[in-house]
Amino acid sequence: MASVNLKGITKVYDGGVVAVRDFNLEVDDRQFVVLVGPSGCGKSTLLRMVAGLEEISSGQLYIGGQLMNRVEPQARDVATVFPSCAFHPHMTVYDNMAFALKRHRLPPHEINRRVKRAADLLGITPCLARKPAALSGGQRQRAALGRAIVQDPQLFLMDEPLSNLDAGLRAQMRAELSRLRQRTRAAFLYVTHDQSEAMALGDWVVIMKDGRIQQAGTPREVFDHPANLFVASFIGTPQMNFFDALLVKQAGAYYIELADVRIDLPPMTQARLADRGIPGQEIRLGVRPEHILPRPDEAGNGAGSLGGTVVDSERVGSALHLRVAVPLKGCAAQDVALCVSTGELPLHQGGIPRGSWLSLALPGGLLHLFHRESGCNLL
Ligand SMILES: Nc1ncnc2c1ncn2[C@@H]1O[C@H](COP(=O)(O)OP(=O)(O)O)[C@@H](O)[C@H]1O
Ligand SMILES: [Mg+2]
Repeated sequence: MASVNLKGITKVYDGGVVAVRDFNLEVDDRQFVVLVGPSGCGKSTLLRMVAGLEEISSGQLYIGGQLMNRVEPQARDVATVFPSCAFHPHMTVYDNMAFALKRHRLPPHEINRRVKRAADLLGITPCLARKPAALSGGQRQRAALGRAIVQDPQLFLMDEPLSNLDAGLRAQMRAELSRLRQRTRAAFLYVTHDQSEAMALGDWVVIMKDGRIQQAGTPREVFDHPANLFVASFIGTPQMNFFDALLVKQAGAYYIELADVRIDLPPMTQARLADRGIPGQEIRLGVRPEHILPRPDEAGNGAGSLGGTVVDSERVGSALHLRVAVPLKGCAAQDVALCVSTGELPLHQGGIPRGSWLSLALPGGLLHLFHRESGCNLL
């Protein structure tokens, strides 16, 4: 049975703001689901409804198979890590972590065992006797996580729990969350605005915009097959490149025209377009920076090839991030981002200097074709 089942959940705030609209989602035991989207898209509202801190306007919320719409937060068997849930300032960290357990009347030795174990796991044992005010930001965030862990709930709800941490601590906490996952049967509903965090942590990613689900899938699915332009531009760094292009259907075969460059499509893509009865049309063409291949040996911007001048060249780890100004026939020049793995192209170990001319190859099999108006993925 799914740990959490959201059916047609909608939230209309007083004053008429529709923060969440007809939201459907199932979260299973042990599943780590991440809600991700830009600020204001309704992530926190949704999480707060599941926690019982916000009334559900319509729809049904089930936790462990039970309808929870009108159940008190304390009776939902969820543990929360929310930015707003403050510590009791006059209590020690230990007592803060033990608070919910005492309320549930757990035996003292069990409370002690759980708090000590969580503190150990999170590396905050030396902080247990302190008051919350005497913790650093990172320690406080760990204590908040610890307070959730000790409750051993069937569902964790976490709203941007790593947002106030510096990069190093964030990476460490990510690893700790992964370890926590392996030790519990609980489900996770985790909110972040950071797509890279979502992609790293989630085994199911739900991308939201304006209170609606845009796409839900594994990190791989939403990266490889974005449902629409919004998802395509939101997921992945550097961002996907987009071009206005033409999908041409001629004698039953499809190809793409980008300015005066013809790009052939592999048989599988052609078959899919044909199956779906897609007519030739103006499209938005998407291609990820990782999928563009530079060909430095070819000079000129002849017909059939795309090329431009390197305007930015930055080494990021073992990859080279380039920005290339590409003059397109009949259009303004367009900046194109690409990432080149220096490992794969030993030629570029030393970098590609600004001002170099690069020919670019767009691989037909890795292109994304979007409907110009609706933004929907045509494949
Ligand atoms: N208490 C509230 N009253 C009215 N509108 C609210 C309230 N809380 C949030 N909103 C609005 O609901 C929308 C979603 O907000 P929120 O759930 O906080 O988004 P997110 O967490 O994704 O940034 C926003 O338009 C926000 O302004
Ligand atoms: Mg929020």
